[in-house]
Amino acid sequence: MCGIVGYTGTGQAAPILLDGLAKLEYRGYDSAGLAVFDGKKITMQKAVGRLKVLSEQTHDGEMMPGTSGIAHTRWATHGAPSRINAHPHSNVERSISVVHNGIIENYLKLRNYLAAKGYVFESETDTEVVAHLLDYYYNGDPIEAMTKVMHRVEGSYALGILFLDHPGEIYAVRKDSPLIVGKGKDGNLIASDVPAVLKYTRQVYFIQNEELTRLTEKDICFYNVEGETINKELSTIEWDVDAAEKGGYEHFMLKEMHEQPKTVRDTLMPRIRDNDVYIEELGMSDDEIRAIHRIHIVACGSASHTGMTAKYVFEEMARIPVVADLASEFRYRDPILEKNDLVIIISQSGETADSLAALREAKKKGVMTLGIVNVVGSSIAREADKIMYTWAGPEIAVATTKAYSAQLIAQYLLAIKFAEARNIIGKEEVAELLKDLKKLPDQIELLLHNKGNIQRFANRYIAAKDVFFIGRGIDYAISLEGSLKLKEISYIHSEAYAAGELKHGTISLIEDGTLVAAVITQEKLYKKTISNVVEVSSRGAFVLAVTNEGNTEVEKVADYVIYIPETSHYFTNSLAIIPLQLFSYYVSVGKGCDVDKPRNLAKSVTVE
Ligand code: F6R
Repeated sequence: MCGIVGYTGTGQAAPILLDGLAKLEYRGYDSAGLAVFDGKKITMQKAVGRLKVLSEQTHDGEMMPGTSGIAHTRWATHGAPSRINAHPHSNVERSISVVHNGIIENYLKLRNYLAAKGYVFESETDTEVVAHLLDYYYNGDPIEAMTKVMHRVEGSYALGILFLDHPGEIYAVRKDSPLIVGKGKDGNLIASDVPAVLKYTRQVYFIQNEELTRLTEKDICFYNVEGETINKELSTIEWDVDAAEKGGYEHFMLKEMHEQPKTVRDTLMPRIRDNDVYIEELGMSDDEIRAIHRIHIVACGSASHTGMTAKYVFEEMARIPVVADLASEFRYRDPILEKNDLVIIISQSGETADSLAALREAKKKGVMTLGIVNVVGSSIAREADKIMYTWAGPEIAVATTKAYSAQLIAQYLLAIKFAEARNIIGKEEVAELLKDLKKLPDQIELLLHNKGNIQRFANRYIAAKDVFFIGRGIDYAISLEGSLKLKEISYIHSEAYAAGELKHGTISLIEDGTLVAAVITQEKLYKKTISNVVEVSSRGAFVLAVTNEGNTEVEKVADYVIYIPETSHYFTNSLAIIPLQLFSYYVSVGKGCDVDKPRNLAKSVTVE
């Protein structure tokens, strides 16, 4: 998740831009840059690392005179964190400067198209394609060029743009990536998030999808994708800066839960074309995929729960054996790895000590390794033989939610790829599965809307001593994550059990009123899990069930039922986990815990 700021007015732009970027630091970034226009030329400066480096490099902006400009903090997606990949990006003549948030999904196609027309690319980014495409269409009218670009690019974007022959003006447009315009006294601003402009104004316009804007010192105009002028309403921001950083949400965890539809879309859509899965970064032919005989999925904590889910998915869908392992166990077990094995390491941070050690252990044994990682350029991303990124953006709350969702998606896609290459499923089944995957973002959105009911339910359990989560198959993997979420942020003891295993000991802990959350999304196991629900409820448990729409049988045995929308049985984790995340969150809030920074925990566990 990158940050954008732009300014045009009577003041010096560079210090305002640097200040605005500083307000967006909380979003996470690995490099930064700005372009300032003094009316004659556009100057650019970029730096890797903290904003401090860019501030020092530009003497706090003093060495970049000019009253309009655009700036950016980059969280690497396409291409490693480096000066050359940092924004702004330009056309060859340096007469168009662009900053971009989001992902251009068809950038490779566009890059090839432009390269064939003689355009030379400097960076590995998807953004540079936009700069050259603007150049290709530009005929003196920025709005016309921008709308033409909008018709060509697919994906999500918020763009801030300078044109050399339009001094004193900045241009911006958005689709599926936030962007606001601030109406200031001594000039106007654009930003990807409200905190960047609050020092200068509380009067903002929220740009909607496929709307464009042109700003000068005094005027702000808005256009639709046809280039026609539109009117927009000015809003007044009432929040303080702290709340604004969280986008109006009370906690980062809540904000990140709400970002899950986008995270899922961003991780999924660039890898789907023509009803098929393309994981170009894998660089593996179908023959190479077929040569793999066994997969080991190795990770820690929540990431390992996605691995456990993937085990069920891979084995059933692609008929390939999978060992799901904890990195802290794997690394010391002298694991038996064979020539045709693939070791997949899953990690949000890419720095988890045990996961990194597991990766090194696997490499030492000479097997192929694949990292599924969120932080571009992190240790695991650098050291794994192959890398597949989850595009969740920076996650700030210690308890993972959106990175977890993105990890699931990456593994579903891999499983489909493997199943297809191994001829276990055909084109039609792939198309059906992709149809269900594409529905997930909206379905997650729907579940998030139900948060009021879940909050009311959660409030009844803030004094709970023990909570049990039960399920079978994928539902067991979901239970593991539901239980971890609850205990880590609410400090309530909870355990996840494979539902059939309860009666071998744990059931003795069930007392009158004990909360048992039963996950029942696997149709072929409905009856079995329902029997386990009956076992616990007859011993006094209060049963919360999460099940599929239409499975009303559950209402006969459970005390409170949450339904998830219809999807393939492989993908139910992506939906069932949402109410469980919300439940944990509201219990934690109700207890007054530090939701985003629970005691004794760190976001990145870089020690053993
Ligand atoms: C729990 C949580 C942790 C992480 C685990 C692995 O909410 O966030 O269990 O999943 O520490 O971290 P990464 O994915 O960074 O390797």
